Amino acid sequence: MGQNGGVDVLRWIEPPAGPAVALLDQTRLPDEEVTLVCRDVPGLVAAIQRLAVRGAPLLGIAGGYGVALAAAGGADVAAAAHDLAHARPTAVNLGRAVHRVLSAHTEGRGALAEAHAIAEEEVAASARMGEHGLTLVPEDARILTHCNTGALAAGGEGTALAVVVAAHRAGRLKHLWVNETRPLLQGARLTAYEAQRHGLPYALLPDVAAGGLFAAGEIDLVVVGADRIARDRSVANKVGTYPLAVLAHHHGVPFVVVAPTSTVDLGTRTGDDIPIEQRAAAEVSVIAGRPMAPPGTPVYNPAFDVTPGHLVTAIVTEQGVMMQANEGSLASPGRTASDYTGNEGT
Ligand code: MRU
Repeated sequence: MGQNGGVDVLRWIEPPAGPAVALLDQTRLPDEEVTLVCRDVPGLVAAIQRLAVRGAPLLGIAGGYGVALAAAGGADVAAAAHDLAHARPTAVNLGRAVHRVLSAHTEGRGALAEAHAIAEEEVAASARMGEHGLTLVPEDARILTHCNTGALAAGGEGTALAVVVAAHRAGRLKHLWVNETRPLLQGARLTAYEAQRHGLPYALLPDVAAGGLFAAGEIDLVVVGADRIARDRSVANKVGTYPLAVLAHHHGVPFVVVAPTSTVDLGTRTGDDIPIEQRAAAEVSVIAGRPMAPPGTPVYNPAFDVTPGHLVTAIVTEQGVMMQANEGSLASPGRTASDYTGNEGT
């Protein structure tokens, strides 16, 4: 699963070569396609924390297989699940998938079967999101995206990038603007890599150049992914998403969030309740091993920001499109908590 132009993004390895989880080490892209084989949970937790594997749906898949790995290796499965669920705090997919596979294990339904089921569901969800999102893409669309939301992040073809790829296949994509996505450059390193493999017409830009593009009328649509969508429709996504939403609103450009229901978390009431991961100072102050700030400079490095629901034109899931104009809270009449699995802590 998780094929990206022939590259395996994540795969379970059966014995005798395994049990193990094989990952495409995303920290080595775009220059090298290196497979990282995680044979135990501490190795997988480390891979998650240094973003060798990343992106909300793929984190869920990885977490699920992590529990299966613990179960197969006779480890303390509950302790392993705890470590996996807390490896990164913002993407709800991780804790949710870990809890789901742990429950399957505890109830004797088989951890690995449940992990496989999660992976298959995410692949199917990607395809549906691509189809639903396409309905929002105009002819000759010039689309801006942020971070990486393709196969590298999602198991299937992706979330937001699946919509872009669907638009390309439908002959509707004129141009894709790819924000580089400071500080870890998921746009430059990963989205540009995927765009090239898909043969998309694209250009990379520094994040700070997006405002000028909006002002020049060069953007028709913004599509981004999400790490957690709260009950009030607030969206946590890669830092830098919120300013894009403000710009889009100011310039009258639709701002569309594409995420599977495994990213929707009715257990988190508002955007203020979403835990935002803070990351190491060196990710900002050091570039390519060279200090870019005086030693000891304090750094603010949140991995995500929160976009309030009123700035989100539509949320696309595998179930369909929810337009902002027609919908209030995600728990509004006709949509209840049972539409989404809960945010179970582990
Ligand atoms: O820190 P990352 O690289 O895991 O952040 C990823 C994002 O913010 C993505 O936009 C999000 O997970 C949606 S991915 C399909």
